[in-house]
Amino acid sequence: MSDTLLLVEDEAVLRGEMGRHFTRQGWDLLQAATLAEARRVLAGEGPAPLVVLCDMTLPDGNALDLLEEVRAGAGTRAEWIILTGYGTVADSVRALKLGAFEFLEKPCPMERLDLVVSGAARSARAQRRVAESAARNHERFGLDAWVGDSPATVRVREEVKRLATVPIGTVVIGGETGAGKGLVARILHYTGVRGDGPLVEVNCAALPKELMESELFGHEAGAFTGARGRHRGYLEQAHGGTLFLDEIGELESPLQAKLLKALEDHRFRRVGGEKEVVVDVQVFAASNSDVDSLVSEGRLREDLFHRLSLFRLEVPPLRERLEDLEPLVYRFIADSNARSGKDVRVVPGSVWRRLQGYAWPGNVRELRNVIERSVLLSDGPVLPGRWLQVPQDGGGPAPAEHRPADPSEEDDTVVSFHLDGRETLDQLEERILRRALELSRGNVSAAARRLGVSRQTLRYRIEKHGLAEGTEEEE
Ligand SMILES: Nc1ncnc2c1ncn2[C@@H]1O[C@H](COP(=O)(O)OP(=O)(O)OP(=O)(O)O)[C@@H](O)[C@H]1O
Ligand SMILES: [Mg+2]
Repeated sequence: MSDTLLLVEDEAVLRGEMGRHFTRQGWDLLQAATLAEARRVLAGEGPAPLVVLCDMTLPDGNALDLLEEVRAGAGTRAEWIILTGYGTVADSVRALKLGAFEFLEKPCPMERLDLVVSGAARSARAQRRVAESAARNHERFGLDAWVGDSPATVRVREEVKRLATVPIGTVVIGGETGAGKGLVARILHYTGVRGDGPLVEVNCAALPKELMESELFGHEAGAFTGARGRHRGYLEQAHGGTLFLDEIGELESPLQAKLLKALEDHRFRRVGGEKEVVVDVQVFAASNSDVDSLVSEGRLREDLFHRLSLFRLEVPPLRERLEDLEPLVYRFIADSNARSGKDVRVVPGSVWRRLQGYAWPGNVRELRNVIERSVLLSDGPVLPGRWLQVPQDGGGPAPAEHRPADPSEEDDTVVSFHLDGRETLDQLEERILRRALELSRGNVSAAARRLGVSRQTLRYRIEKHGLAEGTEEEE
């Protein structure tokens, strides 16, 4: 599909000439001779233009007024190029303030115009991509992304929901590795009042010490050897949105002080810079060591900690909320099925017991990996226990060796199901029949014996569920 260009020009001959030029270059062209027409095109159902090339002085007014209107409304962003025969400096300043891509004097050589149009197209495409990925993330990181029904998880969800409605400024998120701090941060950002702004995630442990300051605060050209151009740091990139500092304890103390000052003053200087840069960000900080001990060990400055910990969220370890195992396992099975094209539906009782008997030091991340691996290596609807590789280390039921031998180890004859309404009785019946038929290799009499029903009863039910294909009677 080609991109759309809206050409607004009242002079018909010029409009025709430019129109032909851009059509030849592969643009889908929309045209307007007046502001009113342009307004109609922009509000219409048709494709939204990627670039608007607009004469400034039109019979019914000044194009900058239209640009101002458009900027005030929501909707897809196009890049605007304003052309004018008699532009003043004031106009050009206003155009750029309104976010016009370029303000050009007529007559403008075609080669120059082409360059500007392709630059504008590139910029508009990039903005669309960002907007689209933000929209996807809004969906992906809604409150429902936080799976689990244990009281602890419900509490976290409630807190996130509450925090999402207020301008929080700062939050400290604590919890063990893999417990879900990163996920909480994303949900908090995307459901929150700054959800349309950027989310910049920085793992302080991964920043090289010597670059930490310039990565966070940016630098001016020539600020130090190797600093070629001006660089906008993470803090600036998060302007209007959220800066998420993971492993905050790894940030060196002078930088913690500089960060605190930037948060207090809403402004800071880039490395090697004189000018102050104004920023408006909310900061989430996370650590998987206990935040209070970070402070007592001197790894987190007390003043910064007080500033950041206006709100605190603790994500409890998985072993303290084993009720969440079941919904999490089903969520991860569904995700892995979708990715791998498998169709795992059944989790044998023996597998549940092993999952519950493990302490999950790697928390939800470890669980997700275990389930993904098992789904990938499965062949059939049953989640195999063979690939769990979780030692039984107490905390749950008795260790495996001391449990009575479990005939259903490695599943097979166990069919488990939820009683929370996600499957109807009819669907359960169908699942049980399928399983019994699989185990009996399609032999109806053998399946009937397995299920303890008569052959006739089973036949009737097989017909009812349309499962007759591939079945046979015992000779
Ligand atoms: N309640 C949950 N529901 C669904 N998925 C979850 C949940 N909690 C965690 N996850 C998933 O588990 C994985 C690990 O979570 P996350 O990366 O947020 O952990 P973390 O606490 O930030 O870990 P680290 O300390 O190592 O940075 C992610 O894939 C995340 O999406
Ligand atoms: Mg994380």
